[in-house]
Amino acid sequence: MTTVPPRVASGVRFRSRGRGGSYGPIRGVVEEILRRAYVRDWPARLWAHVPGACEVRLVDSHVDVPGAGPDLTVAFASDLHLGPTTPSRLLDRAFERLAACAPDVLALGGDYVFLDATEAKARELAARVREVPAQTKVAVLGNHDLWTDHRLLERALERAGVQVLVDDAVRIGDVAVLGVDDPWTGAMDAERALSACGDATVIVAVAHAPEAIPALAGQVDALLCGHTHGGHLALPGGRPVVVQGAVGKRHAHGVHRFGRTTAIVSRGIGGIEIPMRAFAPPDVVRLRLVRREYDPENLFGHTRGLIR
Ligand SMILES: [Fe+2]
Repeated sequence: MTTVPPRVASGVRFRSRGRGGSYGPIRGVVEEILRRAYVRDWPARLWAHVPGACEVRLVDSHVDVPGAGPDLTVAFASDLHLGPTTPSRLLDRAFERLAACAPDVLALGGDYVFLDATEAKARELAARVREVPAQTKVAVLGNHDLWTDHRLLERALERAGVQVLVDDAVRIGDVAVLGVDDPWTGAMDAERALSACGDATVIVAVAHAPEAIPALAGQVDALLCGHTHGGHLALPGGRPVVVQGAVGKRHAHGVHRFGRTTAIVSRGIGGIEIPMRAFAPPDVVRLRLVRREYDPENLFGHTRGLIR
């Protein structure tokens, strides 16, 4: 019997295969070199043996929100980067963490793959996401998704019960969960996304990158994003060496306040070009929306983030 090899794009691409912008010949050359250099996913298998490489932290946070509805728990994960630099054991640990949050809402921040979206990666994504017990599952796409066959990933997510949000929102009682298009490579329209929230009392926004902060700060109660990887390679203490973009540089990871809005920037989970992380450990986020009157005098009580 002949084995059919998996369908993988090969050869240098000069343009994005998806609808994502900011993809040029240099990116195409780099990806082709890595496709060849990282054959059979050896970097992920090697990195998995480094002590602590597959540990996933929990950023545990809460936000006080108005309204009389029930409290709500959101579990958020970003930058899974299924591919040659992300160990399977790391993803196992991340999804165990998400399930342990017992979330009402699972929110996914994009960059599901590194390099090409393949049928195998799409199947793995759907299988992992399906296992998280959450009533509502939403997702946005990231730059790495939009540079490849993102339709494959969108279909996989939908098969796993996920609503892929592109400047759109879903309602859970008086809470709207909105997802914006990638601010870097997509065509984010924050106004359209906000108008999809209707008369919601509480708004939780999901974006791939912190570049969505200026458009949404003050207009939503919480904003969850990733993309930065906390610099991926950082100095001792977590200070990133290089982060793309001014907003990402200022807010490379952690919990930040902008008036009404609590923005949480996750370091994400997986690996990209460089097959290791330094002082930028993977994390997932648990965000609890707690019904309490907003007290501008008590900002510390309004929002709190703990790393576990
Ligand atoms: Fe990204």
